[in-house]
Amino acid sequence: MRLERFIPACILTTFLLLFVSPVPTSAADPAPPAKGGVVVSVSGPASDVGAAVLRKGGTAVDAAVATAFALAVTYPAAGNVGGGGYLLVHPNGSGDPAVFDFREVAPAAATRDMFVKLADRSAHRRIGVPGTVAGLAMAHKAYGKLPWAELVAPAVKLAGEGFELDAFNAASISATVRNSVGDASAEFRRVFGKPGGGSWKVGDRLVQPDLKETLARIAEKGPDGFYTGKTADLIAAEMTRGGGLITREDLAAYKPVRRVPVVGKYRGYDVYTAPPSSSGGFTLLEQLNILETFDFKPADRWEPRTIHLIVEAMRRAYRDRAHDLGDPAFTPISRRMLDKAYAKELAAGIDPKRATPSADLAGDIPLALESEQTTHFSVVDGSGAAVSLTYTLENSYGGKVVVRGAGFLMNDEMNDFGWLPGVTNPTGRIGTPPNLVAPGKRMLSSMCPTILVKNDTPVLVTGSPGGRTIINTVLNVVVNTVDFGMDLRAAVDAPRIHHQWFPDVIRGEAAFVKGHPELVAKLKEMGHRVDQVQSQGDAHSIWIDPATGRVTGVADRRISGKASAE
Ligand code: DON
Repeated sequence: MRLERFIPACILTTFLLLFVSPVPTSAADPAPPAKGGVVVSVSGPASDVGAAVLRKGGTAVDAAVATAFALAVTYPAAGNVGGGGYLLVHPNGSGDPAVFDFREVAPAAATRDMFVKLADRSAHRRIGVPGTVAGLAMAHKAYGKLPWAELVAPAVKLAGEGFELDAFNAASISATVRNSVGDASAEFRRVFGKPGGGSWKVGDRLVQPDLKETLARIAEKGPDGFYTGKTADLIAAEMTRGGGLITREDLAAYKPVRRVPVVGKYRGYDVYTAPPSSSGGFTLLEQLNILETFDFKPADRWEPRTIHLIVEAMRRAYRDRAHDLGDPAFTPISRRMLDKAYAKELAAGIDPKRATPSADLAGDIPLALESEQTTHFSVVDGSGAAVSLTYTLENSYGGKVVVRGAGFLMNDEMNDFGWLPGVTNPTGRIGTPPNLVAPGKRMLSSMCPTILVKNDTPVLVTGSPGGRTIINTVLNVVVNTVDFGMDLRAAVDAPRIHHQWFPDVIRGEAAFVKGHPELVAKLKEMGHRVDQVQSQGDAHSIWIDPATGRVTGVADRRISGKASAE
């Protein structure tokens, strides 16, 4: 998110987290460990849809497709058909692992300087060509078994018949409707406002008749039901009305990309994750490669040395992220971030006693900008195949632009490009070539769907929303399980920290800062700045016990959520 919008969104997020779901919160207890499959997402009804697909004999990808469409109905903050993301599948022996990159692209009329003037930054111009429907269809074609229409049908039903709002949805939708102003979001207020006015209450039913029709067209015609025909006409009309750039041709031209996952090794595990156009995988693997050069014992988790080393690994990896990464179709991507010898050099440069000032590492290297609300979910089926899927509208509810007559929210993903060519500053502006706007280009993401594999079998499926914090939330979960021997519930619950090179500050969850005052004091003595945030990410994750094969789903208690067993 751009700096000028960062504070209001964070205040809203903090407000919601304080008053709706303080940590630990309202997520349903995890499904008991199961032998069969599990789906764990931010939304109970969506997890149930995925688990029902597994019961019908669907694959993990089938369940992921159905869950993703259900989330587009039941979690409008980030579940979507108007956004984009990454689906990582590890088929556990029945095919090659793959990443389906359905990141949005800039429309053909986009230009490098299109956001330079403040007046040009309207909600409609921030919309990228959506990728979700095409990406899910591509994954389904490769790894699905059940008919497409059967996977979209539950979402059609949820939109048409409505579903009961949970505490998070009731508060979040009400607050966003109340705070939204202007013509661009008039349709958002009509579609998501409570009929008759006032705030939504827990248990109220949200019915979305226009979205039902959009989903029915997708169910019937596949991606053509979205990228051509009536939906495409409605999107093009919305663009004309709001001064957006996306045309019918842009929609018809959208293509997801099947990529080979990036794979690293960490203390005996194979770490499968997302390559560029996301920065998530490269950054995570550089951090892990640095940390692997140090020894940790389980009792060390909250020792100053541990936090210091984790922070210094974060700092260095985010520096390289800002320097190296962009859409590989436009920027040659160096592989150095994956190189263990390079990580060793970086580790050797860490002063064990003092924080390295970020400025000393980078000179004029710029930093990238992303923001808050996305959603992640994890799926494992009865064969042990796993899907890790993170997708987003970028901000919560995107730019609050609902396509008139089609009932769905568009993204504001163009925010993730660098907007001011040549202009860089340490508070967050970036102006270097790898991530400047260009037609057809994917904006750099931090989404980091990840699967840890032992002896060729998935054991941990994880990921998170949270803009640039995503990568560090995944890192926190991975080191908690691998280095510090925590079970998955403890690993997900444990307080999280984040450092992103610039601003040069550790952001710790309240439970970290308040729960470890002596540790924080010691970090400050070492030269670290420490700020407090209420909460970081929501990592709905699955653990598959390598010894017994039992599957445990854990919904992150920082928000709503449910693990549903097959
Ligand atoms: O692609 C990205 O990295 C961002 N657009 C994701 C935004 C996000 O995670 C917001 N969620 N809390």
